[in-house]
Amino acid sequence: MKLKNLSIITLTLLLLIISQYSQAQLPKETEAQKIQRMKWWTDARFGMFIHWGLYALPARHEWVKLHERITNDQYQKYFEMFNPDLYDPREWARQAKTAGMKYVVLTAKHHEGFCLFDSKFTDYKATNTPFGKDLIKEYVEAFRAEGLKVGFYYSLIDWHHPDYTIDRNHPQRVDSDTAFARLNKGRDMNKYREYMKNQVRELLTNYGEISIIWFDFSFPGKNGKGHADWDSESLLKMARSLQPGIIVDDRLDLKEVEGGWDFISPEQVKVAKWPEYNGKKIPWETCQTFSGSWGYYRDEHTWKSNAQLIELLIESVSKGGNLLLNVGPTARGTFDLRAQDRLKSMGEWMKLNNRSVYGCTEAPAEFTAPANTVLTYNPVTNRLYIHLLAYPMGRLNLKGMNDKIKYVQFLHDASEVKFSAGSGEDAGTLSLQLPMQKPPVEIAVLEVYLK
Ligand code: GLC
Repeated sequence: MKLKNLSIITLTLLLLIISQYSQAQLPKETEAQKIQRMKWWTDARFGMFIHWGLYALPARHEWVKLHERITNDQYQKYFEMFNPDLYDPREWARQAKTAGMKYVVLTAKHHEGFCLFDSKFTDYKATNTPFGKDLIKEYVEAFRAEGLKVGFYYSLIDWHHPDYTIDRNHPQRVDSDTAFARLNKGRDMNKYREYMKNQVRELLTNYGEISIIWFDFSFPGKNGKGHADWDSESLLKMARSLQPGIIVDDRLDLKEVEGGWDFISPEQVKVAKWPEYNGKKIPWETCQTFSGSWGYYRDEHTWKSNAQLIELLIESVSKGGNLLLNVGPTARGTFDLRAQDRLKSMGEWMKLNNRSVYGCTEAPAEFTAPANTVLTYNPVTNRLYIHLLAYPMGRLNLKGMNDKIKYVQFLHDASEVKFSAGSGEDAGTLSLQLPMQKPPVEIAVLEVYLK
């Protein structure tokens, strides 16, 4: 009997030590291994973000609950009305694929706390709305069937959970510390941390291979939340152990931790140059909206044009980055016409020009972009791509390139572009002879075969 007790104690101790050890460590990998793990993503360059939740019903920003200081009770009507009868993720997936996107990230839960998936740990989920189904399951299957890599966005912030403490980014936020303390009496972040862990485990266990997870977001400081509040390291540790290949964003507040993030995520900005960390160029992806809001916003009229969106993609690639372009589906479950139109036009351009995007990156420093052009480069094929943002008048001069070029053609139709070397003052400059009329593509691209 005693012996049995002893062995149980030893076993428990052993398990404790093992679990402590595995809690503390993120998997180690070399720089080369990380590049390899992320290769499909860096080659892909273009993905779709999808922000969908109850906020599609008010249709005036996914932060509407905070902006209008709405209580859980008042917000409940959207839960009771949620019934996206036209939801057909195969149609979404087709549109993403046609646009040229290679991966997708959907909000499994956004800040409002509503879960699109059938979580065991809450009643606040799609299966309990009039719609009555797990939206995530169909989503995962549909996008996979179209050959896209599938990812989830999971909000660290939660404006519905009773144990999530009120902070400065909360609809019920207040303006004094004593008022915060009063409101937060009885709220237990330990329980909320457990809740998150359980949900992330569900998401990364029940839906097959998940290629990306987006945790969003930390805001350390006064009345804010950072890695200690989320227990970020153990969340991440768990994510990586459940899905060893998974790619993770940088919003867990683990910037200083080795393996604490895979890429940085500049939001709604055009970066000035390839971002660096500790003096090294790092993987990055800019996430962008069509019009400003991430969730469906009926009355927002600040939509980017087709040309602007294509430029955003090219620009990102030209600095070694990715573009994650967002769609906010309606409460019927459809992409609204403006989004469909933009995706279609990107698809038309991508169909003929995607060689300047997939597998491409920043051009070697020896090539200087002529005015009004953006360069990308494919290191495997050794081709340079010149994107003509403003179409020139019949001639384009490439400085210092006369001995570097083998052949030039338009990318969209593979028609030859003749060139000649300059002389005298223009020695060293190569002059491309372009047709006077701009070819019928939103942004024309020259494909340059280098020597
Ligand atoms: C912000 C916003 C959020 C959006 C996200 C996308 O952090 O809180 O609404 O989901 O950016 O990057």
